[in-house]
Amino acid sequence: MFRLFSRFFGSDIGIDLGTVNVVVYVKGKGIVINEPSVIAVRKSVRGGRKEILAVGSQAKAMVGKTPAGIETVKPMREGVISDFDMTEAMISHFVRLADDRRGFFSRPRVVVSVPACVTEVERRAVVDATLSAGAREAYVVEEPLAAALGASLPIHEPRGNMVVDIGGGTCEVAVLSMGGIVVSKSIRGAGDEIDSAIVSMMRLNHKLAIGDATAEQIKCDLGSVVPLAEELRMEVKGRALTDGLPRSVTLSSVQVREAIEPIVGKIEDTIRETLEATPPELVKDIYEQGLVLAGGGALLRGLSQRLSQALNVPVFVADDPLIAVSYGLAKVLEDLDSKRPVLSTVERGSL
Ligand SMILES: Nc1ncnc2c1ncn2[C@@H]1O[C@H](COP(=O)(O)OP(=O)(O)OP(=O)(O)O)[C@@H](O)[C@H]1O
Ligand SMILES: [Mg+2]
Repeated sequence: MFRLFSRFFGSDIGIDLGTVNVVVYVKGKGIVINEPSVIAVRKSVRGGRKEILAVGSQAKAMVGKTPAGIETVKPMREGVISDFDMTEAMISHFVRLADDRRGFFSRPRVVVSVPACVTEVERRAVVDATLSAGAREAYVVEEPLAAALGASLPIHEPRGNMVVDIGGGTCEVAVLSMGGIVVSKSIRGAGDEIDSAIVSMMRLNHKLAIGDATAEQIKCDLGSVVPLAEELRMEVKGRALTDGLPRSVTLSSVQVREAIEPIVGKIEDTIRETLEATPPELVKDIYEQGLVLAGGGALLRGLSQRLSQALNVPVFVADDPLIAVSYGLAKVLEDLDSKRPVLSTVERGSL
């Protein structure tokens, strides 16, 4: 009976609307979409609507390679919507793909994660984009809260739980207790800024122009924040700034580490400042239980080791840091009707 009822109204869907990746969770099915936040469009002629050519990995494969008349758009920047129409188109595309119950009457209820630092206007924009993408109801939940739930931290207890979510566009640090955020700090930049630092280092030190996708590849293959037992090397291809011709250079993990250090230092400072602003009873809990890293940035080699030495607290990486937030959204969806304490930080789209 319940199944019939829910079929009539549509699915419950959680969307981790990230700057770099969108992960979509459908209640009862699990994660059904994990795609880059990129959309490829044919530019409108004489002010008409843009035609959508590809969304997700297909669109990402086109970045930096499009002919005149076609453009790739990353509609999210630093954790928030920078291109409303394209975000709406992207959400609408993913919801259509994810929700096979969708029919004339049935429209899904959608919970979307947003950075804790967003303004009311930015929060509203996410709700509006989700509603105009076809949701029956739209809610937002703060990303650090979702990450903490996804990492199975006991956030409902009167206990200090610390989570650091290092995404592509933001790094969010939060201390949670009794189902809510007690202290949080964010910096905008994170993974994308690390990629830009690598692009600049290649120009400056190697006189080589590379694109963002190559920089991201270098970060994932060579990126580290502590000296490695065996330093890594890779060949990087690009365009020489001197004569404009293709060239390759051999890059070592030591050079990458130096290049990304300023951003890693900023993340470390943000965690330190958050601890300084946290009530001592909760700091005591964090000192004993440690903090959890989530988001793709948590995968940087040696990050937990470096942070635990610098901050004097145990540091753990969430089981699957890239999908921790969507697992948290799954837990919010389980309780969408009943568990008001968690939902105190979730807003109804209709408010
Ligand atoms: N192995 C790795 N080492 C370092 N960084 C990585 C690795 N794998 C992925 N990343 C980075 O993680 C970031 C993506 O993480 P995530 O999907 O958590 O971000 P997001 O949720 O899209 O962004 P945000 O939450 O800031 O809006 C990218 O910058 C990506 O380059
Ligand atoms: Mg994220």
